[in-house]
Amino acid sequence: MIHPGTFPIGDSVDPVQLSKDPYTILSRMREREPVSRVAKFGMYYIVRHDDVTAVLRDDVNYGVGVESMLVYDTFGRHMMTVDGEEHNRYRLAARAPFTAKLIRERLEAKITETVDKLIDGFETDGRVEIRSAFASRLPVQVMLAVFGLPAEDEPLLRKWYDAFEQALGNYEWDPAVRQRGQQYVAEFKSHLTMRLEAYKGRSGETNLLAALVNDAPERRLTDEEILRNALIIFFGGISTVEALVLNALYALAMHPRTFDRVKRDPALIPVTLEETVRWLSPVQAVTRHVRKEMTLRGVVFKEGDLVNCMIGSANRDAGVFIHPDVFDIDRPDLSRHIAFATGPHTCLGLQLARTEGRIALSRLFARFPGCRVDLKTTSLPEGYEFRQPSRLDLVW
Ligand code: HEM
Repeated sequence: MIHPGTFPIGDSVDPVQLSKDPYTILSRMREREPVSRVAKFGMYYIVRHDDVTAVLRDDVNYGVGVESMLVYDTFGRHMMTVDGEEHNRYRLAARAPFTAKLIRERLEAKITETVDKLIDGFETDGRVEIRSAFASRLPVQVMLAVFGLPAEDEPLLRKWYDAFEQALGNYEWDPAVRQRGQQYVAEFKSHLTMRLEAYKGRSGETNLLAALVNDAPERRLTDEEILRNALIIFFGGISTVEALVLNALYALAMHPRTFDRVKRDPALIPVTLEETVRWLSPVQAVTRHVRKEMTLRGVVFKEGDLVNCMIGSANRDAGVFIHPDVFDIDRPDLSRHIAFATGPHTCLGLQLARTEGRIALSRLFARFPGCRVDLKTTSLPEGYEFRQPSRLDLVW
């Protein structure tokens, strides 16, 4: 063990290398420097499953939001930038439509129809770049259904999403990017306000906006709170689902025997998706702010320090998972992965993501039973915050 307070591995982290191959560096950290200070990013990394779990469950000492964060600057106060009572209020109001039961009853048929229509668009081609034709479009179309917006809004939502993504990655604080983000936030809010007005008093509607706006008075959020939380729900559900579909296909391509098994037996798809998010976690890291001086494994964090909870690394911790680097859909320890986080901010949309992923893979395999991934033209997964291949070619 390296002396706490010196961070040779953290000091030598090269962001390009980390993006290409985070698992080698993170595995060295887990063994020798489990609480590390990564000089290039000016933040601490915690990489072991027990530490990541403990920090994510402790919203008293480790907070999600401060006003200087890009997600706060762009979207304001919403469930992912607040803790405690305010967070509970937002979660409680928004959670009902995201339960497995309501997704099954209200969204499954619509998701299946959406998936089939997207596949119709390339069915006869024999080959498709699945990210642009399918994986990036499906979650946007599903979000339209979740919010009760018309299908014609897809290009608008895409445009807004892309601007939000830029604004949230605007670490240089470029004023033009910031301004465009804020302009599109205003457009998004005014677009949704029209819908909110239309849904007020209409109890027969089952979409999220109608549910939020007609909620019981003791739970009802203000219109402005609904809009801010709608922003983060929309934002949270796009690239993550895209990565889920791509990472699952990539993982299967790398494991042809499992690929054949899953194509023959679609009942294995849910477990394949779980092993995918463990083995190749779409969200690799989530950040917390230290609220008061804390000590972890001998390392002292000061108030205001940033701690990056490395979920992707925790999901490869040999203290929890047998042969953690092996992709194995039969592993007995699978339920211990924390790809959707843990604690009060556990992903609100995890059942929706699972449903979208399951329907996407099962329809693709049903319609193209002989499909395979062309690994010669497919890119390798990249990224240490979010991780996925940027292109994936499916042939049949
Ligand atoms: C495979 C797909 C997904 C993955 C891996 C994923 C992962 C995560 C993670 C790790 C967090 C915790 C963030 C933190 O603690 O700072 C989170 C939170 C969240 N996710 Fe997801 N997510 C996925 C899909 C979705 C979908 C489809 C939605 C849309 C409904 C969604 C909406 C949210 C929201 C609103 C939060 C904030 C919850 C809170 O702060 O209480 N996510 N997600």
